[in-house]
Amino acid sequence: MSSRNGHDSNGRRPPPLQPHVLFMPPVGDDFEGSADADNEAAAVDREMLDYPVFGAHPVEEERLFWYRWIAGHQVSFLLWRAMRDVVCHHSDDDADGPGERELDLLSACLDGYSAMLLYSSTVPRDHYHADIRVRMALQHPAFSGTWAPDYRPVRRLFRGKMPWQDDPSCAALGKAVARNEETHSHIADHLVPDGNSLLQQSVGAPGVSVSREKEDLYDNFFLTMRRPVSHAEFVGQLDSRIADLTADLKHNGLYPNVDGHHHPVVTKSGGAMRPLVTDILHVLDRAARLVSDMRLEEARR
Ligand code: HEM
Repeated sequence: MSSRNGHDSNGRRPPPLQPHVLFMPPVGDDFEGSADADNEAAAVDREMLDYPVFGAHPVEEERLFWYRWIAGHQVSFLLWRAMRDVVCHHSDDDADGPGERELDLLSACLDGYSAMLLYSSTVPRDHYHADIRVRMALQHPAFSGTWAPDYRPVRRLFRGKMPWQDDPSCAALGKAVARNEETHSHIADHLVPDGNSLLQQSVGAPGVSVSREKEDLYDNFFLTMRRPVSHAEFVGQLDSRIADLTADLKHNGLYPNVDGHHHPVVTKSGGAMRPLVTDILHVLDRAARLVSDMRLEEARR
């Protein structure tokens, strides 16, 4: 129940639902500064990671789902970038591949990305077509996830094509990749049940090459700017987004109340996605901890 001043029954303020500019290093650039210099970043204590699945308060549809679309994508970019750092540590000739901690990080970030696919796609289908898809098509008629600059370095991993990925030690990673594929295809069918992506609909698709301009258009749509970034700043941006997302989920639920209706993305038979429905914050917390700890371990080496 919300009171007249908009606070919920626990006295929490409504979350601001304000997207922020994300600063990312140019793709291929290392973080600024040394791992030592980042050593001082304090670990964030995230507790009470539960939230209602069905929201009670009526929401302001345009603001909430725009915020979720931007924030969900930005967190995905951060997780892809963290994965890229592990992938790039191991060249194709590296017979050993990633160690146990690195594999944990990859699986956790993959699940974090799956959680963000679910979070972003909680937008009611009608609203997605009337608002979000229209904005993307205005940015470019063939606007596509294939243009995401931070996805490029990890694309082979998502395809199971890294030379070390067949090793039995990568079994859990393989499951996380499969969960992610299932999630992407589920949300694509859910939001666009009888159609193609903007890229497929547009002239010249598919297989069009990705120009620098398209990458910039993509970054620009998701309020992402490229400049040198330290690892501490990188982790800080991930933590602050998880805090904002937590406030949103606790206040509005995963499936918000839109004019008295809820729009679930995953039903009881939701397969591999089902556990994500109640676990988004746990999954993100685990990924963020591993990303932050990995840098500390690098500093100690
Ligand atoms: C929720 C946010 C979404 C994210 C973060 C996302 C991300 C991505 C990424 C990174 C790729 C590139 C995959 C690769 O190159 O191997 C991609 C491709 C694709 N996505 Fe999504 N996606 C999202 C939503 C959707 C939706 C709603 C649809 C519905 C049509 C969709 C349909 C496709 C298709 C068909 C492709 C293949 C290439 C293309 O035709 O654009 N995605 N997506």
